[in-house]
Amino acid sequence: MRILVLNGPNLDILGRRDPAQYGTVTLADLEGIVRAEAAEHGHEVDFRQTNREGELVDWLHEALDDHDAVVINPAAYAHTSVALHDAVEALSVPVVEVHLSNTWKREPFRHVDHVATAATAVIAGAGADGYRLAVAHVATLLRG
Ligand code: DQA
Repeated sequence: MRILVLNGPNLDILGRRDPAQYGTVTLADLEGIVRAEAAEHGHEVDFRQTNREGELVDWLHEALDDHDAVVINPAAYAHTSVALHDAVEALSVPVVEVHLSNTWKREPFRHVDHVATAATAVIAGAGADGYRLAVAHVATLLRG
């Protein structure tokens, strides 16, 4: 089956961005972790990143027809985007939201999460391992 893995703004500069918060893991490292976990379960991965909100909405729409599950780190758009909430809510496939950091332990503006209120599950604060856990959970759900 096909898992769509979406990454939002500023995740393209992971590794150079606020290492105290996000460590030195890069987006390429995350892609490797996701692909390895998906392969363990016999699933394909479509891995993407964008800095644009509308592009994330368009990509979520693709999952209406083309994917069996979604893993998404909406990054800052989690805290601001009703459009992403609505796009996730429109999907019938499982959607697991991931944040590298524990957003609940951070600034109050990160305690609003519009994607979480539409997602199937949320993993926050597990670092890069959160991506692996998200794919493992999706694999469990897809097994039925
Ligand atoms: C993040 C958390 C968000 O609050 C932040 O805006 C990010 C990264 C995370 O993975 O921890 O860009 O999504």
